Amino acid sequence: MASVPSLASTVQQRLADALSAALPEAGPADPLLRRSDRADFQANGILALAKKLKGNPRELATQVVAAVDRGDTLQEIEVSGPGFLNVTVTDRAITETLAARAADDRLGVPYNPSAGTTVIDYAQPNVAKEMHVGHLRSAVIGAAMVEILEFTGEKVIRRHHIGDWGTQFGMLIQYLLEHPHELDHKDGERVSGEEAMSSLNRLYKASRALFDSDEEFKARSRDRVVALQSGDEETLALWQRFVDESKIYFYSVFDKLDMEIQDPDVVGESGYNDMLAETCRLLEESGVAVRSEGALCVFFDDVKGPDGNPTPLIVQKSNGGFGYAATDLSAIRDRVGNLAADTLVYVVDVRQSLHFKMVFETARRAGWLDERTQAVQLAFGTVLGADGKPFKTRAGETVRLEDLLDEAVDRATAVVRDKAAKVGLSESEITENGRFVGIGAIKYADLSTSAVRDYKFDLDQMVSLNGDTSVYLQYAYARIRSILRKAGDRVPAAHPELELAPAERALGLHLDRFAETVAEVAAGYEPHKLAAYLYQLASHLTTFYDQCQVLSDENPAEVVENRLLLIELTARTLQQGMALLGIRTPERL
Ligand code: ARG
Repeated sequence: MASVPSLASTVQQRLADALSAALPEAGPADPLLRRSDRADFQANGILALAKKLKGNPRELATQVVAAVDRGDTLQEIEVSGPGFLNVTVTDRAITETLAARAADDRLGVPYNPSAGTTVIDYAQPNVAKEMHVGHLRSAVIGAAMVEILEFTGEKVIRRHHIGDWGTQFGMLIQYLLEHPHELDHKDGERVSGEEAMSSLNRLYKASRALFDSDEEFKARSRDRVVALQSGDEETLALWQRFVDESKIYFYSVFDKLDMEIQDPDVVGESGYNDMLAETCRLLEESGVAVRSEGALCVFFDDVKGPDGNPTPLIVQKSNGGFGYAATDLSAIRDRVGNLAADTLVYVVDVRQSLHFKMVFETARRAGWLDERTQAVQLAFGTVLGADGKPFKTRAGETVRLEDLLDEAVDRATAVVRDKAAKVGLSESEITENGRFVGIGAIKYADLSTSAVRDYKFDLDQMVSLNGDTSVYLQYAYARIRSILRKAGDRVPAAHPELELAPAERALGLHLDRFAETVAEVAAGYEPHKLAAYLYQLASHLTTFYDQCQVLSDENPAEVVENRLLLIELTARTLQQGMALLGIRTPERL
């Protein structure tokens, strides 16, 4: 089915037509329609237009009201204040729009007509290192953006730019070479993510200790870096074992997060090795980069250090080594040139903003990004503890991500268990729901604040039943599902002739905004606006329950059916919206 035009767009169109009918000399004008508390909508565009034409705004507004074609959509238009229009739509229009949305698999959400190809860089932990809360944010926000963009029809290519290269591998590989069984797995035995990470940790600590205390080991480690970079096979094979062991761990964390990460999308820093020398050559030949104290550098007028001297982007170090910037520039060439991306999105900590600013600017100067390609950093802030400081355990160590996820699930399971008897949940349902609620809570807390802001990691608040939490939304969904089960043979059906109660109108008008919310969230990379929309939806639903009965025997059959239509569409919208955020909606809770 085709997409369903929103009531806002229908009203907007009718007002625009009336404006040009009343004022043909003004040319096409925007009525500037907004939602309003006083009526359903308010149009503010006439004021500016009257000013432009040196006319009286109230008179002009009255002319527009006279010219407007109300059809079945507009109930009332009145001039208010200095020349605003207050617009109320008919109950019929609301019910018919909802019925049209309900008849569509996509709830009337259109595909973006100008969809293209986006490469999104997210969920990028580092090999042989523990994941931290920053990696959690990137994964959660990135995964939500993938779903949202795909839902609008965008072709999305995922890239997990893991940190799998660099001088620190010299020490690790050298140690493994000298202690060859440290990463062995017993015959055919599968190791857990936790076990994999603990072997890597042990190896890291042991090799570090040796590196710091034994000059000869240090020298051998340095030589090992050279061997790695020159592609020595034995060295590469050992390096691969670190990558593989780390992936066992990464995948176990992503699995806990109820997130699917595909192996072919894991293209870490090492994936661009073959391009690095050429990237530097192209930059140097074109003059975009210059040699400075032996290093290959790109300079920017507006990037200076505290001493006032320009801070360059270093693409190649004076010792010939390539760093983070060379890799990211090569990745841009690959993503635009080979993957045919027109948009590049990087879900990365805001503390790397200067890096990306310089990398994007360099790529533009080199012509690897042009007016057809855009690059954006979806920058996120720091995760804070309850004390407002960057999230740490009491001992001051970074918190282990897995412990955090486990604790969220434990607490959520307790919340679910509390109500389980009433709903009649089995033990296995309690366990499953506990996972969906706990992981949902973590994701929602992250997604419901604007990404760039720091946010407080507060498990008590996250799993609270009241307030702006995922559990509140999950309960709203489960409650509707329970009513729909109780409805028996009474089924949702539209009755446009019925008058609607205020709470029904408010809920219906909010449902009608789903499509435009999705479009806005996709265009601006702002998942928190989808979270806010869903929270408001659940709040409208709560008010509706307070004021309107659904299955009451006192209701005529048509009212029951019409209300079933309204809540079923609400449930589907909640479910779709939550799925876009990566959050499950259990049927019974
Ligand atoms: N691995 C990096 C880190 O842990 C993040 C990588 C971000 N992506 C990129 N293309 N630089 O900080």
